[in-house]
Amino acid sequence: MSFDLKDLVQKRFGENYNLHDAYVNRMLVKVQRVIGFDKVYARAKGCYLYDKDGNDYLDFLSGYGVYSMGRNHPVIAQAIRDVLEMDMPNMVQMDCSLLSGLLAEKLTSITGADRDAVFFCNSGTESVEGALKFARAATKRERLLSLEGAYHGLSFGSLSMTCNPYFQEGFGTLLPGAGKVKYGDLEDLERELKKEDVAAFIVEPVQGKTVYSPQDDYFVQAQALCRKYGTLFICDEVQTGLGRTGKMWGFQHWDLDPDIITTAKALSGGYVPVGAIITRRSIYQKTFSRMDRCVVHSTTFGRNNLAMACGLASIDVIQSEGLVENSARRGQELMDKLNALKQKHDIIKEVRGRGCIIAIEFQEPKSLKLRMAWKAVHAADKGLFPQMIVTPLLQKHRILAQVAGHNSDVVKILPPLIIGEQEVDRFVGAIDSILEQVGNITGPMWSFGANLVKEMFTARKEKEKGI
Ligand SMILES: Cc1ncc(COP(=O)(O)O)c(C=O)c1O
Repeated sequence: MSFDLKDLVQKRFGENYNLHDAYVNRMLVKVQRVIGFDKVYARAKGCYLYDKDGNDYLDFLSGYGVYSMGRNHPVIAQAIRDVLEMDMPNMVQMDCSLLSGLLAEKLTSITGADRDAVFFCNSGTESVEGALKFARAATKRERLLSLEGAYHGLSFGSLSMTCNPYFQEGFGTLLPGAGKVKYGDLEDLERELKKEDVAAFIVEPVQGKTVYSPQDDYFVQAQALCRKYGTLFICDEVQTGLGRTGKMWGFQHWDLDPDIITTAKALSGGYVPVGAIITRRSIYQKTFSRMDRCVVHSTTFGRNNLAMACGLASIDVIQSEGLVENSARRGQELMDKLNALKQKHDIIKEVRGRGCIIAIEFQEPKSLKLRMAWKAVHAADKGLFPQMIVTPLLQKHRILAQVAGHNSDVVKILPPLIIGEQEVDRFVGAIDSILEQVGNITGPMWSFGANLVKEMFTARKEKEKGI
């Protein structure tokens, strides 16, 4: 019998976690089971995931920022079908495909200034790798700087720029020449740039892990310092690009003029992985400097038709549906309504973000009884508390969100940019209802926390015994 994917999915539906336990990332399965995230989703559309019984789950995670236009967008799906139906020649390699040329043209038109050259790759981390190589080739300098708290990906070059010991430990020596500077500290930056050996300074307009972004002109000054000392200024827009922050690009919040921009995630429309580097021709040509170096930086799947079609369709949807504007409007509504909850719940320390990348940071509550519970949970693990919010969000309110980083008290949301009032109110209502439970020390929230602590101690003991 010929291959029948629908039949296969139907027959094996529900085996998801067992298969992953057997053949994929067993530890991830374990964690998902412990925190109650071991759901089996059957379908997805727009802002929602659905289980087999038709229950809807509001997706405020967006596949880590991929589904800006919502899941399974019909325009993007149609673009994929069109590519397949046209039997287009794909990845001939020794040709120049139309779709990649068109997407490059589109990307340069939405980035403005004289950034007129594009390199395509397959992911965010790859776009960062390429940007670092382009910067070294263009400046003939070795050193690369990023900011404290930065996340730029997990392959060796990008991992070297990701300032987070959790991700870096255990993988040996990272890229020579990679260094970090203090967030918001221009003197620290200038001290390094003055040495005139720094190829590039890379920043996220809004940091993905911390959701911090400068409230002042730090980036403007940093960019000026880069220009002064001959360092290229890279804006990593992998997460913030294409409307996520309420502007087409995050750097537009400060009218910056980056030398290199990296993008990925939403450009895929949530279907086919894609990444891109957008830069000035003068920088680009320093890598592809001679005919014999025309493929000195390249990747097999880089300009494939399906990814290019998704990119073209995604930008069209973002523009024609006004998603950049909706991101700004609904993001602000979310932040205003969440901020209003601070009056009622002193455990909320801060709500911050731009557009639809938002963090809710928690702090030790004022009541003595609660402070003891807070301290006990934090003594066991510094990053446990936000999980006590995120789990009931999913279990009780069917809303998918995430813990922002490691060892922090931050819940992060990345809603699709298509959300409306209904989604805003469902999320804010759920947070309000969960925080009402904080005062109930013997209630489900703290007993779930106690359970997590128990699981963690068991896991630590197993590790010590080498199980
Ligand atoms: C700013 C930034 N850069 C790079 C990356 C890495 O992208 P990818 O996971 O596609 O490799 C991410 C991923 O979250 C990111 O947020």
